[in-house]
Amino acid sequence: MTERDPAQTPDRVRVEHDVRRLVREEIQALSAYHVQPAAGLIKLDAMENPYPWPAELRQDWLTRLREAPLHRYPDPTAAALQARLRADWGLPPGVELLLGNGSDELIQLLVMALARPGARVLIPEPTFVMYRQLAQSVGLACEAVPLRADFDLDLPAMLAAMERHRPAIVFLAQPNNPTGQLLAPEVLARLVEAAPGLVVVDEAYAPFADFTALPWLAGRDNLIVLRTFSKLGLAGLRLGVLAAPAGWQAALEKIRLPYNVGVLTQLTMMHVLDHPDVLADQAAAICAERARLQAALAALPGVEVWPSQANFLLFRVRAGAPRVHHRLREAGVLIKCLHGAHPLLADCLRVTVGTPAENESFLHGLRAALAAAPGPL
Ligand SMILES: Cc1ncc(COP(=O)(O)O)c(C=O)c1O
Repeated sequence: MTERDPAQTPDRVRVEHDVRRLVREEIQALSAYHVQPAAGLIKLDAMENPYPWPAELRQDWLTRLREAPLHRYPDPTAAALQARLRADWGLPPGVELLLGNGSDELIQLLVMALARPGARVLIPEPTFVMYRQLAQSVGLACEAVPLRADFDLDLPAMLAAMERHRPAIVFLAQPNNPTGQLLAPEVLARLVEAAPGLVVVDEAYAPFADFTALPWLAGRDNLIVLRTFSKLGLAGLRLGVLAAPAGWQAALEKIRLPYNVGVLTQLTMMHVLDHPDVLADQAAAICAERARLQAALAALPGVEVWPSQANFLLFRVRAGAPRVHHRLREAGVLIKCLHGAHPLLADCLRVTVGTPAENESFLHGLRAALAAAPGPL
């Protein structure tokens, strides 16, 4: 006798039938963004800042939170926060901001706004997976140009793809995730000049890099820069920032949900921006650790590591990435296995730069994983 799957109740079967009948095909074809369970593990998989706030900053924040008017809707445009960001970043006049619940939300707004029938998105690949995912979710076709084997951008191929596909949007993560590489400014400028539509430069990792395109916004109509506070130390808060030449913000504002940045986020951000040195010092510590970690990885036999301008490192292991990932996990360290995500990423892993102690645990676990004789996973 075959056992009945307890999940397959008649109700469930009926609902699944309705889902297939009613939900758009392009949504059904997608897979949900998967987050690895991390309980009890040293978490070096998601590009978070490993350092908590100093006790005094936290204490002052708690005092400030007591006054938070949670019974009221938040300021819908977060005007005070916007003014603060403009001043801190020295934005040129004419540049407008739009804030989001993380930069993911801003990417979603952009693809929603530009999803005309037949419009296309162009990306280099591998890159941040949400560009493709969100583009496809709104019915935009997503065209990809493979990076070169050294993970540098293939400029002639990108220019040819722009010519051929006439994309409404080109997304460029600068530095790129998961490779950590930054485009040379002249290459970026060339792409912005050649683009027939909008170029979105996603600067999620800018705090760890030597470049920002923010000053370029003054002279270019088809350039948008995205920023996030997630990698800088506020992943749990969810604040993304879109900076654009005048005109774009008003169009996107029509589809932004009115209260997408909550009272607690606005208040907490103001508090953090009153103490700019805290996150800047943490970013500097992460960059110093990145150099140390990169040198340690480069010294390991059977490991190839790429230079990074972000808070993570991409590396390849001859011993097989899934095996090494699994063994590291058994040793209590969680990193990201990219094997299978794209042909160029065969046997690649990505590790977020942690505290010195976390990085030591990672290196210790990695050495043991590499030394272990091949065997079943
Ligand atoms: C390039 C890039 N952009 C955007 C994001 C999303 O950031 P947020 O937390 O602001 O939604 C990520 C997250 O990994 C990323 O790698």
